[in-house]
Amino acid sequence: MAIKILGTGSYVPEKIVTNDDLTKLVDTSDEWIVQRVGVKERHISVNETAADFAIYAAKEALESAGISAEEVDLIIAASVSADSVSPTVAGSVQAAIGASCPAFDINSACSGFLFALDTAVSYIMRGGIRNAIVIGAERMSKIIDWTDRSTCVIFGDGAGAAVVTPGDGYLASKLFTSGSNEVIEIPSYGGDSPFFEGEKKKPYAFMDGQETFKFAVSKMTDDVKLVTEEAGLRLEDIDHVVPHQANIRIIDFASKRLKIPKEKFVVNIERYGNTSAASVAIALDELNKSGRVKRGDIVAMSAFGGGLSSAACIIKW
Ligand code: UT7
Repeated sequence: MAIKILGTGSYVPEKIVTNDDLTKLVDTSDEWIVQRVGVKERHISVNETAADFAIYAAKEALESAGISAEEVDLIIAASVSADSVSPTVAGSVQAAIGASCPAFDINSACSGFLFALDTAVSYIMRGGIRNAIVIGAERMSKIIDWTDRSTCVIFGDGAGAAVVTPGDGYLASKLFTSGSNEVIEIPSYGGDSPFFEGEKKKPYAFMDGQETFKFAVSKMTDDVKLVTEEAGLRLEDIDHVVPHQANIRIIDFASKRLKIPKEKFVVNIERYGNTSAASVAIALDELNKSGRVKRGDIVAMSAFGGGLSSAACIIKW
């Protein structure tokens, strides 16, 4: 049904911030971060924006797909940390690569790339779209409170992109939203209107870690089961799982509960941390570049996060 993935790309900024570097900012340790989260280092932007990352990732995805910018009919980007609302991240990519197609952003926090992919699938199924670029791009370092040790050790910056085209590889998908701000909240800049009397919150990511953890484990397990069943497959048929890289312990739990061996999971959290909407997209690109995924392989992708939201899909490569 609907699509196949023609090419992928990704980009992370050059600067690496290690756990030891963070001990100079907050009361933490390499041991705590590695054991409780699984991150050893993350890439942090010095002077590039989420849109810049998206441009690099999209260019690489086009090259990997073997198509030119003129052949792109749609660009959708997902981000919660763009430096400008307009132009959008997708619009910046459109201008930079020299495409002339519609381009717009969506936001569903860490699930954003899979929401964007599902949206692109719907456009392709409607007809008239040949190639779409789907992107997840984040400068999470912009929306982190660098004095809060419960969040600043977790996140990282980067972008991933995929070029999708009509095909028969999107076997099933599920999107989930439970809108509330109790567990995860990312307020945006409150402005300085002299008339506004409402609360102006600090524009930083807030997260109840333990509640998010429980949500994440149950969603990753249930969503992957559900889409596998909907695709008419068994969990044993899955060749690769591309999970959101939020916490290595969440991936371990999911692997045990789904009885899918850990070797089938793409894991890069130790090098990048949690790059929110870019996370699954970067991991997908790494799987593609590794040469481990072959045409016909069954790939499950799963993400969860702010919203609260979750998303999963099954793809035949
Ligand atoms: O992408 C969005 C989705 N996000 C997620 O999926 C995140 C899910 N949650 C998690 O990954 C984990 O809950 C965290 C990594 C955020 C936190 O790990 P935890 O094992 O749940 O720790 P906790 O919040 O229960 O805190 C345990 C202890 C506390 O100290 P006390 O109260 O027991 O003395 C914290 O203050 O660990 C302390 N702590 C830290 N210690 C050293 C919290 N952050 C740190 C830190 N370094 N960076």
